Amino acid sequence: MKLQTLLAALEQPPVAFHRVGNEPEAVEVRALAYDSRQVQAGGMFIAVPGTHTDGKCFLADAARRGAVVALGEPFQEESLLSSLPLPYIEVRDVRTALANLACAFYGYPARHLCTIGVTGTDGKTTTSNLISAILEVAGRCTGLMTTVNFKVCGQEWENATRQSTLEALEVQQFLRRALDAGASHAVIEATSHGLELRRVHGCDFDVGVVTNITHEHLDFHKTIEGYRRAKARLFEMLDTKRDKGLGVQPVAILNRDDVSYEVLKPYCHVPVLDYAIDQPAAVCAVDLQLNADSTRFRAVLRGSEKFNLANAEIVIETLLIGRFNVSNCLAAIAATYSQGIAARDIADGLAKVGGISGRMERINAGQPFSVIVDYAHTPDSLRKVLAILRPLTIGKLMVVFGSAGERDLHKRPIMGQIAAEMTDFFVITDEDPRDEDRERILDDIARGAEVAGKRRGHDFLCIADRTEAIAVAFAHARVGDTILLAGKGHEQSILIGGEKLPWDDRQVAREQLRLAGYDLTV
Ligand SMILES: Nc1ncnc2c1ncn2[C@@H]1O[C@H](COP(=O)(O)OP(=O)(O)OP(=O)(O)O)[C@@H](O)[C@H]1O
Ligand SMILES: [Mg+2]
Repeated sequence: MKLQTLLAALEQPPVAFHRVGNEPEAVEVRALAYDSRQVQAGGMFIAVPGTHTDGKCFLADAARRGAVVALGEPFQEESLLSSLPLPYIEVRDVRTALANLACAFYGYPARHLCTIGVTGTDGKTTTSNLISAILEVAGRCTGLMTTVNFKVCGQEWENATRQSTLEALEVQQFLRRALDAGASHAVIEATSHGLELRRVHGCDFDVGVVTNITHEHLDFHKTIEGYRRAKARLFEMLDTKRDKGLGVQPVAILNRDDVSYEVLKPYCHVPVLDYAIDQPAAVCAVDLQLNADSTRFRAVLRGSEKFNLANAEIVIETLLIGRFNVSNCLAAIAATYSQGIAARDIADGLAKVGGISGRMERINAGQPFSVIVDYAHTPDSLRKVLAILRPLTIGKLMVVFGSAGERDLHKRPIMGQIAAEMTDFFVITDEDPRDEDRERILDDIARGAEVAGKRRGHDFLCIADRTEAIAVAFAHARVGDTILLAGKGHEQSILIGGEKLPWDDRQVAREQLRLAGYDLTV
C-alpha cells in the first residue's frame, strides 16, 4: 500500500514530516510493525510509547531491519531530528494513528462484520465465549478474541500472548483473517486498557456488552471514575447512524444488577437492552437452580418493538456453575437475542459450552477433597467464587492465592481480608511477582488478613513458591474440604523477575496430588 494512501487514513493529519533524502510518499509500504524486532524490509515502524520504554528509542533498529519510514509522536529534543536514521512522520496521538493505519492496511474488515465488544471487570472471557458458542450453533461463522483463546469459524487456538486485548494491528489483522474465512460476526474482549489505549479503535462495534464494573486496575486508571470512563468508551463507540448493510441492530447490553448500569447509560446513544437476576429487566433469570456441577434457570425475555422482538422464555441448562455465570449467560442471551438469534439456538449454544479453560475447573485425581482452579484475581471475583464454593463444601474451605506484581497495589490487602473472612485456612503465594520483591507482595496481602483478625503461621501461611504453597495446602486437606487455587487459571507461565517460567496450576495440582499418593492414571 502506498504511503500516501496510508497517511490519508489518519483521522488527524501529521504535524510534521522529517524527510531523510528523497520524497517517500510514493513508497510502497509492505508491512506495519510497532515492535522494531518485527519490522520487515519495506515496512513502516510505528513508534509507540510503552510503560517501560519508548518506541522512539528503536528507530535505528527499525531502519537496520529495512523499515522505509517511521511514525510516532513529536520528539521533545529537537537536536535528535538532525540524526534520524529514516524518514519520520510526527503525529499527536500515535495510538489512534496505529489503529487508523491498521484499519486501512487490512482494508477495514470491521465494516463487513457484525462486531460485538465485551467489557467489564470480571466475566469478559466467559461471556465472549458464550456469545460465540451461541452464534456458531445458530450457523453464523464467527471470529473470537479473548484472554484465553482465539477462534475463527470453529478453528480454535490458544492465546499465548498474556494479553487480553491485543494491539490494534493484531486486532485488525485478526478481523481480516476472520472475514476472509467467511465470518459474519466477530466477538472481541475489550479490556479497559485496550479501550484506553485505542486497541479496539476502528472495530466499529455494533453491540457493546458490559458484565460488571468493580475495583481493579486502579494503578493504571488512577481513579474508579477514570476506569469507568475507559469502559464507557466502548458504548460511546456504538453508533445508530453507522450502516454496514448487514442488518445488524446497534445495541448496548447493560447489567441492571450492577452499578455500571447507571454509570454507562448516559454514554449510550443506541437502544439499551438490559439484563438482571435481581431487578426487572428486558432479559431476566428466574427459578435458578445452582448445582455443584451445573446450573439451570429460565430466561424470560421481554418483547420489544424497538428491537422487533417477541416475548420469549428459554430454559437454560449450562455446565458453568455459580450465580455470576447466570449473569454471564444473561449477557450472552441479550446480545444474541438482540441480533435475531432464535431461542432454541441460544439454549443449545449455552448447553454446548463444557467449561472455560481455567475457570472453576475441577482437578480430580481421586482425592477425597475438591480441588478447583479458577482465574479469580480481583477482590470481587474472589469473593464471588468463595461464596459459590462455601455451600458446596462439607468440610473446610481453603484458598491458595496471591496478587500480581506491578499491578493494582490497592487490591492486595483487600484480597487478604476476603480470604480471612470467607475461608477457614489459606496460603498466600506468588501470582506473577514480575520485578517486585515477592515477599513484600505477600506481606501486603497478609496485612489485610491480619487486620481482619487472622494470625500468620496459625490461620494462614505465606509461602512464595507456588508449588510448595499448593503442596502445603493439600497436606492440610481432609475429607470433604475444598481447596481453591485462584489467580492463574488457564495461564501457561509465571513471571518472576525478568523471567517467564512455564507454569500450569492444573498440571502442578495433578503432580502434587500424585506425590501425595493420589493418581487416577495408574
Ligand atoms: N460475572 C462475573 N462476576 C464476577 N466474577 C466473575 C464473573 N464471571 C467470571 N468471574 C470470575 O472471574 C474469573 C475470570 O473470568 P473471565 O476470564 O471470564 O473474566 P475476564 O473479565 O475475562 O478476566 P480478565 O480481565 O482477567 O481477562 C473467573 O474465573 C471467575 O472467578
Ligand atoms: Mg479475559
